[in-house]
Parts: sequence; C-alpha cells; structure tokens
Amino acid sequence: MSDYDIPRPVSGDVLERILEDHRLFEDLLREARRTDTDRAAARHALAEILVAHAVAEEEKVYPTLRRKAADISEHEAEHGEEEHAEINEALLAFLRAKGTDTQKYDDALEDLATVVNHHANEEEQTILNPAREEVSLEVREQLGVDWLTRRNQLLEEGCASEEQVAALLDEAVAEGVLARRRRARRPTRSRSGPRRRPRRSRTPPSATDRAVTALLGWRA
Ligand SMILES: [Fe+2]
Ligand SMILES: [Fe+2]
Repeated sequence: MSDYDIPRPVSGDVLERILEDHRLFEDLLREARRTDTDRAAARHALAEILVAHAVAEEEKVYPTLRRKAADISEHEAEHGEEEHAEINEALLAFLRAKGTDTQKYDDALEDLATVVNHHANEEEQTILNPAREEVSLEVREQLGVDWLTRRNQLLEEGCASEEQVAALLDEAVAEGVLARRRRARRPTRSRSGPRRRPRRSRTPPSATDRAVTALLGWRA
C-alpha cells in the first residue's frame, strides 16, 4: 500500500491538521474513482484514514471543543458522531464490494463520497469555525498533539479492516447513534429545536439505508 502513505504529522493547530485530512479524503476518493490507479490500495488507505481521523476526533477533539466553545453545543458533537457512524456504514458497504471494477464498487464509492463530503462540510461549518473564534491557539495546539497521537496510533495498529468497521458500526447501532441519525433526516424543525436544518438532501432509500436495515435485521 506504499502508493498511498498517509502523512503523520505530530503537532500543530488541530483545526488546520483536521482540514488537511479532509483534503486527503477528497484526494483518496478521487484516486479510488480513477481507472488508472491501484484502486485497492486507494480504498485501503481511505478506509484507514477515515476511521483513525473520526475515532480520534470523538475521543480527543469533540469533548474539549464542546467545553471550550459556547457555540459548539452537545448537539453539534453528537451530530458529528452520528455522521461518523453513517460514514462507517457506507464504508463497510464499500469494503464489502467485491473487486474494484464493478458497478457495485462504483455505487458504494459514490454513496461513501456523498456522506464524507457532507460531514466534512458540516464539521467545518459548525465545529471548526466556532472553535477558530472561541478557542485559544494554545488549546488548539495541545489538542493537535492529543488528536494526532491517537490518530497515528490507530493508523499504526491498523483500524479499518472489514471486521473492525463492522464492529464500530455494531457499536453505533447498539448505542442508538444510527437511529438518532435517521430521525435527524426528517423534515426541518424550528431553529430552537434539536435540529437546525435537514442534514441531507438525498431522500430516496440509498444503498447505505439498505445496508443498515440489513444490519439491524441481523441483530434482531
Ligand atoms: Fe473531521
Ligand atoms: Fe468528523
């Protein structure tokens, strides 16, 4: 997988380091989409960085930013976790797509790109932007070390095999995180309500919807 060595910085403003990873997601999605690349290697690298990035955010970044920034409520942090679960759901379908030159691969990649891009956009708007205004550079740099240490450790260990992603998804289902996400997709409520706007514009049942329905079925 050396074609896609993932950078492993160890320090810096956590907000900037997170943005760099978001750009890396876009690059790897594109590499996985091309026909003249090693798609299997791109898929593997994409899975690893998506999981390491998100797990480390939930453990090291969201809790502190929520405490330090008045504009980042529990809702924003919880919503981030819901979207991470949704990404894992789409990622699992992508990892399970046999081969790399099939319609199933293309469809699963498209679904994954949709949820990853949506989440990166929303995280940047509702978490990173308020943090840039309200959280001191000193705290952001400490968080940079904490987050990168955990992220790099997960990358080192390997964190996104099919089994590992399935286990993360199982956990999210058991904790009701995905069920919350489904309720969040219902129509707009007032700004004072728990959701500020519809979080997704795609309404028809997607492959990821079908995947979680199947997953819930297994657990029943
Ligand atoms: Fe992120
Ligand atoms: Fe995130």
